[in-house]
Amino acid sequence: MEKELYEIKDNAMKLIEESENKEALEQIRVEFLGKKGHLTSVLRGMGSLSAEERPVVGKVANEVRGVLEEAIRKAFDELNEVEKQENLKNETLDVTISGTKMPLGSKHPLTVTLDEISKIFISMGFQVTEGPEVETVYNNFDALNAPKNHPSRDMTDTFYISENILLRTQTSPVQVRTLKSQAPPIKVIAPGRCFRCDSPDATHSPMFHQVEGLLVDKGITMADLKGTLDIFAKQLFGSQVKTKFRPHYFPFTEPSAEVDVTCFKCGGSGCRVCKGSGWIEILGAGMVHPNVLKEGGIDTEVYSGFAFGMGVERIAMLKYEVDDIRLFYENDMRFIEQFR
Ligand code: PHE
Repeated sequence: MEKELYEIKDNAMKLIEESENKEALEQIRVEFLGKKGHLTSVLRGMGSLSAEERPVVGKVANEVRGVLEEAIRKAFDELNEVEKQENLKNETLDVTISGTKMPLGSKHPLTVTLDEISKIFISMGFQVTEGPEVETVYNNFDALNAPKNHPSRDMTDTFYISENILLRTQTSPVQVRTLKSQAPPIKVIAPGRCFRCDSPDATHSPMFHQVEGLLVDKGITMADLKGTLDIFAKQLFGSQVKTKFRPHYFPFTEPSAEVDVTCFKCGGSGCRVCKGSGWIEILGAGMVHPNVLKEGGIDTEVYSGFAFGMGVERIAMLKYEVDDIRLFYENDMRFIEQFR
């Protein structure tokens, strides 16, 4: 029996030495030391031994078990160490390797332009407000003093949703909303989308953006309007530009004007950008019509105000010399990337 035990030991030791992975090692452990293993079954047979033999064989058996357990433990440790080294090797990181660049997005040119316009007015103390794109006919036309037969009310110019609801054709209805919801002093700009039934071409789009401005306080005059817009034009196009107010008509302002700047490209001598005239129209403006103030609940004996409205696309096209408005909506990366 002793001999058998030593044979088992030698066999096991050989297998342990040869084992190359933890699974094989575990299998050896079960095969020799497990409940149904070789060593265990030998020990089970000890019952048939004599009283003198038993302690001797028992000692050898324990010794063999001890040796095998220790050998297996060691082999496991070695395999674990090898595994660890391998993992470390696989996880090494070459921090000197150059990375893969992710493509970087850029702001849309209309956003860039709108941000620039907003920044100038915010620096003059204007607050930014907004109104809905789906508006009432009342806010878009009636409360803005538009005559019942005004051509812009026509179905061919305006997207009607129902008899009383439309897609706003201008940001001016935000004037009405602001007058009704705020008490003077009022000093706001309102950027947003507008819609008109236009067939798309190089200068027309059924959807476009405007920035509205409204200021109402005591003692506001045309001089305040001129000063504000002159500063705005100089900040946007450069301190060398001059502004010119040309008489115009809007139902909601009186007097009304269109504002031109001297061409920032040629300085006024005439070029492609200003179509030879030396001047570029940039916005519409005027003193808020008393009817509009009254409709907004403002006491016209105490307060007066001015308003202006400009097309964001138009200003972006002028500033960046874009010759087709449709480029803004196609989202061709080759176009958009140029405004980083
Ligand atoms: N709403 C006018 C337009 O769309 C612009 C404007 C706004 C003019 C405010 C005067 C005052 O043309």
